[in-house]
Amino acid sequence: MMNYSSRPAEEPAVRARDLTVVRGPRTVLRGLGFSVPHGQITGLLGPSGCGKSTLMRAVVGTQAKVTGTLDVLGHPAGHPGLRTRIGYVTQAPSVYDDLTVRQNLDYFAAILDPGRAAAARRAEHVTRAITDVDLTGHADTLAGNLSGGQRSRVSLAVALLGTPDLLVLDEPTVGLDPVLRRDLWQLFHTIAAERGATLLISSHVMDEAERCHRLLLMRAGELLADDTPDALRDRTGSDTVEAAFLHLVDEATAAGRTKETTR
Ligand SMILES: Nc1ncnc2c1ncn2[C@@H]1O[C@H](COP(=O)(O)OP(=O)(O)OP(=O)(O)O)[C@@H](O)[C@H]1O
Ligand SMILES: [Mg+2]
Repeated sequence: MMNYSSRPAEEPAVRARDLTVVRGPRTVLRGLGFSVPHGQITGLLGPSGCGKSTLMRAVVGTQAKVTGTLDVLGHPAGHPGLRTRIGYVTQAPSVYDDLTVRQNLDYFAAILDPGRAAAARRAEHVTRAITDVDLTGHADTLAGNLSGGQRSRVSLAVALLGTPDLLVLDEPTVGLDPVLRRDLWQLFHTIAAERGATLLISSHVMDEAERCHRLLLMRAGELLADDTPDALRDRTGSDTVEAAFLHLVDEATAAGRTKETTR
């Protein structure tokens, strides 16, 4: 286990207060407050369109019209110093089909760590990232000839290149078979446990929630819960996180109705 004694215990990897995002005519995130602790896997769960990708874009600093407070690794989100400390895999990963796995990684490594002097270090990072995602046997395969699951592991390898402190993964397991999903979740846990990295992972598959240390449950731009899976199940008297989520949705809907009628 990593020792975090040098880091102020009260400072989480990500801290949001009154986080609001407007996209087009709509307020897509509404005054969210939450914390993502260091060295753990936090799941961001909620139905399609609830704002998961928007929240992740805000954290990595690529989202416009963000208001409120959003601190990431001790800096305001989007701070240039965060660039090499965050690994981000978007929902539609960008991998070049006409390059091999290794060439794809060489390309991104050169952006992260440019210059001829860094060549040996880059090669080392590329090889390690390929090993991490278990694609050594496919290092010289064109990305265009990989399966869907292999392609998503290439994107993950890109995100792992700089040995980031924070990994932001937007639905990394969507469309993968159960075996690959399990393997990827094992890899996420290894990254958290052995490197002390913080992972923020979105999904709309509720069974994946059970594999997270903490959960942010969202619905329609609002946060329904920020808790551990155990605490969520206990609090709602549910057997699964999915049942807990549905319980919280019903509760929020009922509260909304009460607000309407007492207005
Ligand atoms: N450019 C835009 N202009 C206006 N609204 C947008 C824009 N982009 C996204 N939205 C809206 O913002 C909301 C949140 O989108 P977001 O992509 O964050 O959801 P999500 O939870 O990631 O969904 P999914 O699970 O389908 O990926 C959606 O309702 C979407 O319609
Ligand atoms: Mg999304």
